[in-house]
Amino acid sequence: MARQPRIGVLCSLIRPEEKMLFQAFRDRGVEIEKIDDRQLILDLKQDSSPYDVILERCINHSRALHTLKYYNDRDVYTVNSYETANVCGDKLLTSLALADAKVPIPGNLVAYTEESAIEAIEQMGYPVVLKPAVGSWGRLLAKINDRDAAEAVLEHKKVLGSYHHSIYYIQEFIETGGCDIRAFVVGGECIAAIYRNAEHWITNTHRGAKASNCEVNPDLKKICEDASAAVKGDVVAIDVFETKDGYLVNEVNYTMEFRNSVATTGVDIPGLVVDHVIKVGTRG
Ligand SMILES: Nc1ncnc2c1ncn2[C@@H]1O[C@H](COP(=O)(O)OP(=O)(O)O)[C@@H](O)[C@H]1O
Ligand SMILES: [Mg+2]
Repeated sequence: MARQPRIGVLCSLIRPEEKMLFQAFRDRGVEIEKIDDRQLILDLKQDSSPYDVILERCINHSRALHTLKYYNDRDVYTVNSYETANVCGDKLLTSLALADAKVPIPGNLVAYTEESAIEAIEQMGYPVVLKPAVGSWGRLLAKINDRDAAEAVLEHKKVLGSYHHSIYYIQEFIETGGCDIRAFVVGGECIAAIYRNAEHWITNTHRGAKASNCEVNPDLKKICEDASAAVKGDVVAIDVFETKDGYLVNEVNYTMEFRNSVATTGVDIPGLVVDHVIKVGTRG
């Protein structure tokens, strides 16, 4: 019989998702070690590791990124890899990877100065959405309806923003009626999806959007699995817009949250994630 893989779960604050994942490991009689990023000390001269596989569940993107790089360099399989986290943690790199793989995405322009950003926005046509390339939970997104708003937001970013705000990631506004899709892909397979409905154009459940089950039809399955492959994802959640011309992938999340989606979809998302981690850990 194959020996049990040595599994580390890299985490910080324990959220409902981590509790569900720990329970799924317990249900399978599989031991894990919690690696708390607040206590972690990485010895850069140490070239081996006590783990076969690490499931990354950090809240902080840069802690996740650096720790994944550290363990990948020591031949530890991580879910997800450093490369995937690096691409998914940056909306510009994600859009590039999706475009490269011919996965349909909304119109996207990138500019580096206020002047070129205004030009790009006017070229795209109002309304547009301006987002920080690195960010989540719907924070600091701006829907810009006209030139006055564009000038104001760009000036605020220039004067008040950090380095991250000097990269202008400009996206075509997609009329979604306050509804988008969040789909879950584990080991390359789309296992479940939810609709997120909000009164607002921003539909993050963190901001109060309501989740309901979304049937995974063959088109949705294909675009989500293609998006996962484009970023070489192990366990990823895909944000999708439904338009009259088909689906568009908005972004790919590499430390996915699913607390509202297990009961909603009836799919044991944490169980499938844990099975995948055990499988890749055993293989390695
Ligand atoms: N181009 C867009 N057109 C319409 N709605 C958008 C657009 N971009 C983002 N949104 C809305 O804002 C939400 C958050 O945007 P997203 O790009 O997923 O950033 P975050 O990483 O903060 O979740 C989306 O789920 C969607 O509801
Ligand atoms: Mg999102």
